[in-house]
Amino acid sequence: MDTTTKRKIIIDCDPGHDDAIAILLAGANPNVEVIAITTVAGNAEVEKTTLNALKICELAGITQIPVAKGAGQPLIRERRTAPDIHGESGMDGPLLPYPSKKVENEHAVDLLIHKLMASAGDITLVPVGPLTNIAMAMRKEPAILPKIQEIVIMGGGTFGNTTPAAEFNIYVDAEAAKVVFESGVPITMMGLDLTHQAIVTDDIHERILAVDNHIAQFVHELLEFFAHTYKEVFGFAGAPIHDACCVAYCIDPTAFGTKKLRVDIETKGEHTYGMTVIDLLGVTGREPNVNVAFTLDQVKFWDMLIQTLKNYT
Ligand code: RIB
Ligand code: CA
Repeated sequence: MDTTTKRKIIIDCDPGHDDAIAILLAGANPNVEVIAITTVAGNAEVEKTTLNALKICELAGITQIPVAKGAGQPLIRERRTAPDIHGESGMDGPLLPYPSKKVENEHAVDLLIHKLMASAGDITLVPVGPLTNIAMAMRKEPAILPKIQEIVIMGGGTFGNTTPAAEFNIYVDAEAAKVVFESGVPITMMGLDLTHQAIVTDDIHERILAVDNHIAQFVHELLEFFAHTYKEVFGFAGAPIHDACCVAYCIDPTAFGTKKLRVDIETKGEHTYGMTVIDLLGVTGREPNVNVAFTLDQVKFWDMLIQTLKNYT
């Protein structure tokens, strides 16, 4: 990738503690330009994820980025949120003022379509929540498909965190994930195999605190809440900042090792609904459709995050 040009991205998200860190990473890194932020129901109801996105943009001083509210329900299934991980607000922990920044009048699906159709085909979609908006946009206007440069998804994996087989973003709306994974658009997938390498251990947390600005303080407060369940319930050494991995990939793909594999989405299994069925050995003979990330260069990743946080004054 030509590193002299900024990579244009639209972040579709459900903030969400790790979504917030992904937005902050994108908001002050010279390698990416955030064209828009769209919100979806996921970690919390879409009204809450939208309010959280507005609060994050206002705190970070990136108020010029349009925020558009999206789908409040999955395509088929009943809504499922994650208050056990993210709290009732979707972003419990830090207390932020009610934002003066207003949400766009345009629905997120329409904004995605308009931005893509007006583009030169140089926009990367970065969905880090359930894929409802992306699927709806693809169905409403199929002409956007060749206009999408790449989709960098946080979701899936060879194991699950919501069921033994399914990761949350895919599980909430597996039908939407099926539409996206079968679209033919280039996809890079940051599944749990990768994002569980992006854990904010105590030494990393100390580096974040040492940045000593208001954004680093906000990230610290996010992590204090977000890490609790991962440490106390799952026995992790800290919180995995899943969604930041997608933005980091857009900033510097050399920090990631990937394999082009066939990935299909299970939408029927009693025990496997929402599973990303990854054909590791190529036994299906089906055309590989996803760049699956498996390795993270920890030094590049954490240095990128710390340096970007320092860019906020
Ligand atoms: O499974 C982790 C994913 O689900 C992350 O995107 C997190 O924000 C939640 O949306
Ligand atoms: Ca998310």
